[in-house]
Amino acid sequence: MNETNRSASWSAGRSAELYGIEDWGQGYFSVSPNGRLLVRPEGEGEGEIDLLDVVEGLGERDLSPPLLIRFSDILAHRLKTLREAFAIAIAENDYRGSYLAAYPIKVNQQRPVVEEIFRYGTEYDFGLEVGSKPELLAVMALTGGSSERLIVCNGFKDDGYIEAAILAAKLGRRIVPIVEDFGEVRLILKHALKHEVVPSIGVRVKLASQGAGRWKGSAGEKSKFGLFVSEILQMVELLSAHDMLGALQLVHCHPGSQIHDIDRLKDAIGELGHVYAELIRLGAPLQYVDVGGGLGVDYDGSRTSSESSMNYTLEEYAREVVYRLGSVCDECEVPHPTIVSESGRAIAAYQTVLVFNVLGSAGPRTTYPDPFPVPAGLTRREDVPQPIRDLVFAYEAVDEGRLVECYHDAARAREEALNLFNLGYLTLELRGLAEQLFWATCARVQDRSRELDEVPEELDSLDEILSETYFCNFSVFQSLPDAWAIDQVFPIMPIHRLEEEPTRRAVLADVTCDSDGKIDRFVDGHSTIELHELDSESEYYLGVFLVGAYQEALGDLHNLFGDTHVIHVRLHEEGGWWIEEVVEGDTAREVLGYMQYDAERLQPLLARDCELAVREGRMTVADTRMLMRFYHAELSGYTYLEADG
Ligand SMILES: Cc1ncc(COP(=O)(O)O)c(C=O)c1O
Repeated sequence: MNETNRSASWSAGRSAELYGIEDWGQGYFSVSPNGRLLVRPEGEGEGEIDLLDVVEGLGERDLSPPLLIRFSDILAHRLKTLREAFAIAIAENDYRGSYLAAYPIKVNQQRPVVEEIFRYGTEYDFGLEVGSKPELLAVMALTGGSSERLIVCNGFKDDGYIEAAILAAKLGRRIVPIVEDFGEVRLILKHALKHEVVPSIGVRVKLASQGAGRWKGSAGEKSKFGLFVSEILQMVELLSAHDMLGALQLVHCHPGSQIHDIDRLKDAIGELGHVYAELIRLGAPLQYVDVGGGLGVDYDGSRTSSESSMNYTLEEYAREVVYRLGSVCDECEVPHPTIVSESGRAIAAYQTVLVFNVLGSAGPRTTYPDPFPVPAGLTRREDVPQPIRDLVFAYEAVDEGRLVECYHDAARAREEALNLFNLGYLTLELRGLAEQLFWATCARVQDRSRELDEVPEELDSLDEILSETYFCNFSVFQSLPDAWAIDQVFPIMPIHRLEEEPTRRAVLADVTCDSDGKIDRFVDGHSTIELHELDSESEYYLGVFLVGAYQEALGDLHNLFGDTHVIHVRLHEEGGWWIEEVVEGDTAREVLGYMQYDAERLQPLLARDCELAVREGRMTVADTRMLMRFYHAELSGYTYLEADG
């Protein structure tokens, strides 16, 4: 289909297809016929929120992009979906135990998120998982009056961590410290005796089954955490010797985050089930089998075992866990335990969308008059070096159908022209012409290749060569650290203008002064994304989806771009949306403070310099007043770029 036909037949539906929204969106996102991104916090068929409407509404409230918008109803829906998947699996498999989720707060420790999960999880008795002392301190305080809700304590523990857990048990919390290292058993015994508490204890098993995914090192014999089976046997002896074997209530494993291949899970659960059964045989009154985290998120929507995807569904995960554990228990004739899972990513990722505006673009010119206006007689001029002539010939030959050959010839000629320039044999004007001829050839080759049934692989790099850079108002390091650190792919798309055909291909660059601060991996496997031409009259907004897990806590202050504004948006019962909570982003004063700058000391330093400038006649008093007012206002301002005024 040629360009004109493609444009005429474009629709919002085609944008939905292009950006793969149905593949990765799990029904939480869709596109309206008038080309706007819709959020459906309660899944398909329920209420809808127009994301651009939210962004504009926030602008009216002086909250400018970048914005981290949390849809709390999605969080509630995720908990319900998880619970339902396990309920169905339990019923289908005649499993006689029940299911509990314990949300690992490290996935997103923000107070409003943890509070919401705890609140929404009330009807299912869902608990929380902590992995450090500060996380425990937060959770101990937040869980008042909920003695039935499970608190699982993972991570390496010192004396203080264990004493805090034992005291929390005395306070009435249903808390289970998980032994990750043998020394912790002695500490638990010490504090249990000291405070006269019989605690519930868990143990993490160093499984022989290899973990899965990027974090497969979380399981297996070389994993950082857990006890070898021989150590668990020693632990059983030690507890028995103190008449405390009754305290051993839970066995745990964590097969790695973002498990992308379900087969790896099967092995881990089978092995953990047998450890459970054997411990029951040895007299431990275990009640829980905790299968850890790892339930994946299909970031790229490919439903494959690639690292950004998963080759199973949430329902299959639940079925697999329940079926495997049930069969091991039946085989070994032991009771069916309560299944606990510590799913984090799968609960938290979908709730948050990062929205930012595009500030401008740069890139090769891709539209030229056809044919390209080669200066008259250029190829006959003696002062024109051969590479320039070759570029003209390559351009002209495109219409003879030798697309790959012309592209290679043009690339080689441009390379030679650059070498000549570096040696001082080519003028700046001729170098400029070489550049234009090369891009014009690439654009022509790309245009003609659209008529082919199959585009030769050699031409794949044209998209990248002809792509632009869109400069975007956000920091990769602050808001999408995993995109930088581990090449995590997140779905990205415009949140409006989706009824229009995107005619540009771009890489996204952030506002940091770091060449790594860019996004050049997208869910369709390309290094560029199709976007709309920028319009100087209006803002262009992009959304990055599924960013609710891990990104906030891992984000850093590169170039002193601080936390973005975070806004909790909810569906209103009578339709539309409302803002439940706003957590304003860092101000310049705050980020400077994190680096030990005291704004109260910086201001007088600058004021003194201003006075000197007045005395020496370099500035007027009015100038310095303006500078000091500006300085004062900027200290309280957002760290990102804001519209004038
Ligand atoms: C012990 C433990 N539990 C749960 C999780 C959460 O994993 P996920 O977010 O993949 O579900 C992790 C994360 O690595 C973990 O280390």
